[in-house]
Amino acid sequence: MQAYEALAGVYDALNGDVDYRSVADFYETAFKRAGLTPELVLDLGCGTGKMTVEMASRGYDMIGIDGSADMLSRAFERKGEAEADGILFLQQDMRDFELYGTVGAVVSSLDCINYLTGEGDLARCFSLVHNYLDPNGIFLFDVNTPHKFKTVFADNAYILESEDCYCGWQNEYDEKSGLCRFYLSVFTENEDGTYARTDEEQCERCYTKEELQRALDAAGFGEIEFYGSTDHSPATDTDERWFVKAICKK
Ligand SMILES: C[S@@+](CC[C@H](N)C(=O)[O-])C[C@H]1O[C@@H](n2cnc3c(N)ncnc32)[C@H](O)[C@@H]1O
Repeated sequence: MQAYEALAGVYDALNGDVDYRSVADFYETAFKRAGLTPELVLDLGCGTGKMTVEMASRGYDMIGIDGSADMLSRAFERKGEAEADGILFLQQDMRDFELYGTVGAVVSSLDCINYLTGEGDLARCFSLVHNYLDPNGIFLFDVNTPHKFKTVFADNAYILESEDCYCGWQNEYDEKSGLCRFYLSVFTENEDGTYARTDEEQCERCYTKEELQRALDAAGFGEIEFYGSTDHSPATDTDERWFVKAICKK
């Protein structure tokens, strides 16, 4: 499983512009369109818990699963700060997790699915999601698109900057394997004004629409739809993120 250590402390600062509310609105609209009123929702790859807490504040009982102890520890703090009830955080691998029973919906935000980089990882994860969903339960996730891997990530380097940290970000995308490596150097300011540097390597895998569709089909999902944004507009080849809906057939 991938690290998510150095980045955990600065993840929220660097993702300050992510609109979690509009993604949560997308989930709720999808629930409504499918005629569902899930009570218990699994947030797969919940990270620092922003979406988990947002959904809990909307009245859902939540389970948040993430593999990174550092990300989960921030999620625990956030849960306390928000005084959010009804959230269970579990440190587990998306490719090998266990729940006590089934849930009405599974959501996974901000390209967690692209972190499934190994051969068979996607199939294992989708099969577990199917296993733990109620019949006709809904699975909603988003992915970075092939267009984004080719034109935005590519072999580019950039600097992300927030109030107390800088992150140097170097990409290395291999179109043949579909793997994109991110070499990150995080600089955080010490009390004396000097900066501490921590390096981290991460990797995402690019999935085509056909690969995702095939893996969902094989796991037992139906009514699969791809959207180009949280407003449910149809997906296009030039989108940078796709939002995917699938219904669990049993
Ligand atoms: C880009 S972050 C997204 C976090 C959160 N969903 C959000 O919207 O902010 C990806 C998350 O996936 C988690 N992750 C990556 N691979 C994983 C795996 N195999 N099992 C569990 N979590 C994993 C990382 O620890 C990280 O928290």
